[in-house]
Amino acid sequence: MFRTGEDWFTDKWLAQQLSWTAALALLTLVVLFAGLHLLRRGVGAPRYTGGEPAARSVPRFERWELGARLYHWGNLSFLLLLVVSGIALFIPASLPSPGVSWLLVHEISAGLFIFGLIAHIVAAVWLSDLRSMWFARSDWRDFKSFARYYAGASHELPKAGKFDVWQKIYHTSLILLSTAAIATGVSLFLNAEVLTSFGHPWMRWQRLIHDCAATLFLLVILGHLYVRLAKLNWPKLRSMLSGTLTHAEFDAVHDWRRWQPPADDAPHLEKKAQHKREASVDRGATSHG
Ligand code: HEM
Ligand code: HEM
Repeated sequence: MFRTGEDWFTDKWLAQQLSWTAALALLTLVVLFAGLHLLRRGVGAPRYTGGEPAARSVPRFERWELGARLYHWGNLSFLLLLVVSGIALFIPASLPSPGVSWLLVHEISAGLFIFGLIAHIVAAVWLSDLRSMWFARSDWRDFKSFARYYAGASHELPKAGKFDVWQKIYHTSLILLSTAAIATGVSLFLNAEVLTSFGHPWMRWQRLIHDCAATLFLLVILGHLYVRLAKLNWPKLRSMLSGTLTHAEFDAVHDWRRWQPPADDAPHLEKKAQHKREASVDRGATSHG
């Protein structure tokens, strides 16, 4: 699993780096995931049941504000830079030099990623309805429906709010893995730039955790990529570009009782206000249909 090396101070052989074969083995889990998903879909597509149709008769709803879309695609570009420069550091001399050091490219893209993340958290707290991305009691019931579907015991899946339980699990894993990658990355950065010097064992652990967090991060993003590029999810892919969902696309997989997005042609301020309370209905709060 790890590449070992003789420790300079203790003369012991200790784990120094995640081995690239272990990293590759972890990444192939995504192929397994895609295979199982395709197999289950091949035997029977799910039927989305329950829920209420949209009560507002408008042609389109706004799913993503411009800021959310900019963050999503901007974040993708920072992460691409992080992955490429990360591979160059993980397997030295594996990629041609870009003219500056790969370490500098990695540090700058990490800085952009952290800056984007801070802006995202501020915007999420200030502008969006945090409850849409947080777990509700109904998610456990939904999770069991998904488990029954993937076990081949049922065809029925529940209609979701703004995000279904898998999207919430995915987002939570991004929070945990980003925290691990950033916390260990800060130690590595301070040490690499000789701004401070941590003890040898501390640095060894930071490197090992950073390797594992980065690999798992890539794994969940590749899983996300597979799901989001699948043909059945093309309306959602379009929504991440245009920001909108049609009435029919809403009714196909969403439940009006759990998510009441604003009409796309509503005035700007009205849309902002509705985004702030769009998931409130799930908790029995006043609905604004
Ligand atoms: C404590 C940390 C975080 C909080 C409070 C948070 C909150 C949220 C919320 C509430 C949404 C839904 C917004 C909506 O309804 O449109 C969201 C979406 C999203 N989150 Fe996070 N998030 C956090 C961390 C992260 C991390 C670490 C990443 C990626 C590395 C991330 C990437 C995204 C993306 C790409 C979206 C969809 C686009 C958007 O709405 O901006 N988030 N987040
Ligand atoms: C080429 C790469 C990518 C594609 C094609 C893609 C596509 C999409 C699409 C279509 C959605 C909207 C789903 C919906 O409306 O329900 C979405 C949502 C989201 N994306 Fe991406 N994405 C990519 C890369 C990333 C990256 C790099 C991150 C962050 C690390 C990320 C994090 C998220 C999050 C947190 C959401 C909201 C929750 C979810 O839908 O799972 N995406 N993505």
